[in-house]
Amino acid sequence: MKQTDHQFATNDGRRGRLLAYGPSFSGALLTYLLSLSTESRSRFGPHPFTEEGIEANFAGPDAALGFVACEEPSGAVVGYALLKPGLLDADALRYAGYSNGILPEETCTFAPSVADNWQGSGLARQLFEVVKQTALDSGFRTMVLWGGTQATNARAIAFYRRLGFHEAGRFEHNGSNLDMWIELWDR
Ligand SMILES: CC(C)(COP(=O)(O)OP(=O)(O)OC[C@H]1O[C@@H](n2cnc3c(N)ncnc32)[C@H](O)[C@@H]1OP(=O)(O)O)[C@@H](O)C(=O)NCCC(=O)NCCS
Repeated sequence: MKQTDHQFATNDGRRGRLLAYGPSFSGALLTYLLSLSTESRSRFGPHPFTEEGIEANFAGPDAALGFVACEEPSGAVVGYALLKPGLLDADALRYAGYSNGILPEETCTFAPSVADNWQGSGLARQLFEVVKQTALDSGFRTMVLWGGTQATNARAIAFYRRLGFHEAGRFEHNGSNLDMWIELWDR
């Protein structure tokens, strides 16, 4: 994989870098995850917010790729996104029942988050562009959301629509959720 290292600048002039996650970020990442508000934590929970949870997520044959947004000059993690090859088992079962025709072998899975006081700043969009380019460089053509998104998460749904995601279907799991997907590649 190509080295990920991009500058970002938010709508309100804050700056930093978008980098591939590596073990040297584990402490800063844990601090970030534990600083998320109850609201954000109720929306974003791809793995336990512990050292072990982080480590397990990046180990083994199903390992995800991680991306961190680091504020400059402090180096604090202010955003975190995951890209996983393929679909999670539960997501794959639902997508098999939809008629959008995605091919699991061409599909990857995305989960984004940014710190509460960075939401709405344009950082998430820049994080997505880096994840998207990595997915394309890895040969993926479609992307789905990790576990869908809660129907009550209006900010996230607006964000995904703005990026070009479509709704694939709805499902019940601790309330109503939407599956959303995007074609990364113009066929
Ligand atoms: C979901 C999340 C990543 C979206 O990030 P964000 O900070 O809103 O995204 P950005 O500021 O980069 O906005 C990107 C685009 O979405 C648009 N957008 C964001 N919120 C919007 C809203 N409420 N209504 C309409 N458009 C909105 C922005 O206008 C922007 O479009 P533009 O660049 O063309 O102006 C962020 O809110 C977050 O981390 N939430 C908590 C965790 C979470 O819910 N994760 C997703 C789980 S499925």
